[in-house]
Amino acid sequence: MTNQDILETAKAIAREAGALIKEGFESDKAIDLKSSSIDLVTNYDRAAESLIRERLNSAFPDHLIVGEEEGADEGNSPHVWYVDPIDGTTNFTHGVPFFCVSIAMYTNDKPAVGVIFDPIQQELFYASAGQGGFVESASGAVKQLKVTNTTALNQALLGTGFPYDRATSDLDNLEQIGRVVKQCRGLRRLGSAALDLAYVAAGRLDGYWEFKLNMYDVAAGIVLVQEAGGIVCNINDGSPVAPADVVHLVAAGPGLKDILLDQL
Ligand code: IPD
Ligand code: CA
Ligand code: CA
Repeated sequence: MTNQDILETAKAIAREAGALIKEGFESDKAIDLKSSSIDLVTNYDRAAESLIRERLNSAFPDHLIVGEEEGADEGNSPHVWYVDPIDGTTNFTHGVPFFCVSIAMYTNDKPAVGVIFDPIQQELFYASAGQGGFVESASGAVKQLKVTNTTALNQALLGTGFPYDRATSDLDNLEQIGRVVKQCRGLRRLGSAALDLAYVAAGRLDGYWEFKLNMYDVAAGIVLVQEAGGIVCNINDGSPVAPADVVHLVAAGPGLKDILLDQL
C-alpha cells in the first residue's frame, strides 16, 4: 500500500473522530485530571482515541500505535502511528473552539503521513512525504500548504505554548517569550500545538516554538510543515527532530528559522 492510500484512510479516520469530538464539544463532558490540576482529560479524549485505534488496527493490523491516552503498543514494526485524539483539551473543556484531531504515521522514524482535522472550522490539513501538503476547507476547496517567506521578526506573527509543569519547572518558556515578544509583530498562545504547526504550514503563522512536547502533539504537524517547505528542528541545537519522549521544537519558514532560533 502506498503512503497516498494510507493517507486517504487516515483522513477518513480523522474526520470520523472529529465528528465525535465536535459532538462532545456541544455536550456535557466528564473531566478528570492527569499530571496536575491543569492537565485535563475528558471522556471524549478517551472515546476518540479508542475509535481511532479501532480503525487503525483494522486497516493496518501490523502497525504500532502511540496514543496520548492509552500509551504505546508493544512490539516491532517500521510503521508507528502517533495519535492525539484531542489536541487542545483545555480549550475543548472551557468551550474555546480551537482544538483538533492529530494523526501521523512514521516509517523507520521518518515522517510519512500526517493529518490534522479541526472539526469546528471543518478544515482538514494533510500531507504525505514528498507529495506536498494541502488543506481542504468546509466548502470542499483544496489549497496547497506553503510556509511564509518572512525574514524579519518585526514582520512575523508567531505561536508558542507553556508546558503543563510550568509551576514547578525552570524551563517555563517565560524568558524566551519575554525576548521574542518585544521584537515580533505578534505572539499567540492558541492552545493546540498541532494546529499551531498546521497554521505554520498554511502560512498563517510565520513560526512557532514550544518546549516539552510529546510526539503525539507534533508528529502530524511536522509532516505538514516540512511538506509546506518549512523547517522543524530542535530548539537546543537546530538538529532535525527525531521521535523521542520529549521534544523542544521550532518550526518556521526557511527565512525565519535561524533568526528565531537565535532568540531562543
Ligand atoms: C497540549 C496542547 C497545548 C500545548 C501543550 C500540549 P493537549 O496538548 O497542544 O497547546 O501547549 O504542551 O500538551 O493536552 O491539549 O493534548
Ligand atoms: Ca496534545
Ligand atoms: Ca490530547
